[in-house]
Amino acid sequence: MAEFSLPKNSVIKKGTTHPAPEGATRLKTFKIYRYDPDSGANPRYDTYKIDLDDCGPMILDALIKIKNEQDSSLTFRRSCREGICGSCAMNLDGKNGLACTTAIEDIRGEIRITPLPHMEVIKDLVPDFTHFYAQYASIQPWLKTVTPAPAGKERLQSPEERGKLDGLYECILCACCSTSCPSYWWNSDKFLGPAILLQAYRWLADSRDEMTGERLDELEDPFRLYRCHTIMNCANVCPKGLNPAKAIAETKKMMVERAV
Ligand code: SF4
Ligand code: SF4
Ligand code: FES
Repeated sequence: MAEFSLPKNSVIKKGTTHPAPEGATRLKTFKIYRYDPDSGANPRYDTYKIDLDDCGPMILDALIKIKNEQDSSLTFRRSCREGICGSCAMNLDGKNGLACTTAIEDIRGEIRITPLPHMEVIKDLVPDFTHFYAQYASIQPWLKTVTPAPAGKERLQSPEERGKLDGLYECILCACCSTSCPSYWWNSDKFLGPAILLQAYRWLADSRDEMTGERLDELEDPFRLYRCHTIMNCANVCPKGLNPAKAIAETKKMMVERAV
């Protein structure tokens, strides 16, 4: 029988418990994943207690408060604070989401925060997006045409043609979907994953793009596209309410239609 053992430093240890602020009346406990691969030390969960009467309503407010007042070494990404940049994507008590648009009160009891699953960790809650962005670049996410635009004019779309991009253009590339997809966990070296496939379909669905055949040729591969098994985790977690699985299904349909 095959025996597997995990590397020693993969075991998550119990970390430091930071004391509750003095005089706090409405305490909430956060258990936060801490890891610095350069240190050689094991990852750990540090525990922080914050007073909800002295904190903004969102998980990101709590993280910023912890960093400002209790532990300046806590590392996470954020920018817009309004669900637009995608940088604060992380795993919030077992479900991927955006820290800035997830309310603290929506999670009962202690809140456990870890980085997006199945990505290399740079530090604490900051995953390495290098591979994800390389996959995004691979689908050539820009308008590709062969015929020149009418002199001095834009390439126009009818309202119906433009409407076909709804549910696609809103994607903020946060990777919540891809990192919740079991197929992507096991095959991310070859499977493009829901986020990148939704982006690929965004260009297939664009009436102005003239490279549909070439784009489909690039996706026609047992791994790149066809590792999606319609598990639907992607649609379940998307913080923008998008449905990458539907975009993948539409792409598969285009493959079938061009073959007949
Ligand atoms: S529907 Fe496809 S892409 Fe979405 S989670 Fe499932 S396998 Fe992954
Ligand atoms: S489809 Fe949704 S979850 Fe996936 S990257 Fe785009 S915004 Fe994020
Ligand atoms: S900080 Fe930009 S999406 Fe959360």
